[in-house]
Amino acid sequence: MNDDLDPLWELVTRQFHGPEYSVHGPDHWRRVERNGLLLATRTGADIRVVRLFALFHDSRRENDWEDPGHGARGAEFAASLRGSAYELDNERFELLRHACEWHTEGEFHENTTIATCWDADRLDLGRVGIVPDPAYMSTEFGREIAAHGSIQPYLDAVMSPGRVELS
Ligand SMILES: [Fe+2]
Ligand SMILES: [Fe+2]
Repeated sequence: MNDDLDPLWELVTRQFHGPEYSVHGPDHWRRVERNGLLLATRTGADIRVVRLFALFHDSRRENDWEDPGHGARGAEFAASLRGSAYELDNERFELLRHACEWHTEGEFHENTTIATCWDADRLDLGRVGIVPDPAYMSTEFGREIAAHGSIQPYLDAVMSPGRVELS
């Protein structure tokens, strides 16, 4: 992947206050990014916002429990680095800010980019033993993947087009 965001990933990862291994840490962020990019192939979400959401949404978690307010702290952190560590115009930053701040509330959104961010996060719930539920997805594609029971065949289909048949 073209990666002007690599230095930003390094910076954000280095400051992460969570435990050394966290189910909400950088491994999760990368899967959210991967899920979001997959979803965006059909939803048409803004890819830069989706990638920045993946990086920032849980970046200010302090523990692996409920940690209320971690979405808002992630959004503030994203705001503090904008213009120095990365660039994003005001309109798109507003999408990023909203997606980070409210990702914890189990809400739905009609904006394609915000909806894609939240579905990307929720499709990684398998890591904590929760099966993603189509009823909690905001996008049609997110619902389809959740109903299918696994994201893997969809990822395989993108990696090797034509090789994998989806039911
Ligand atoms: Fe979170
Ligand atoms: Fe998350």
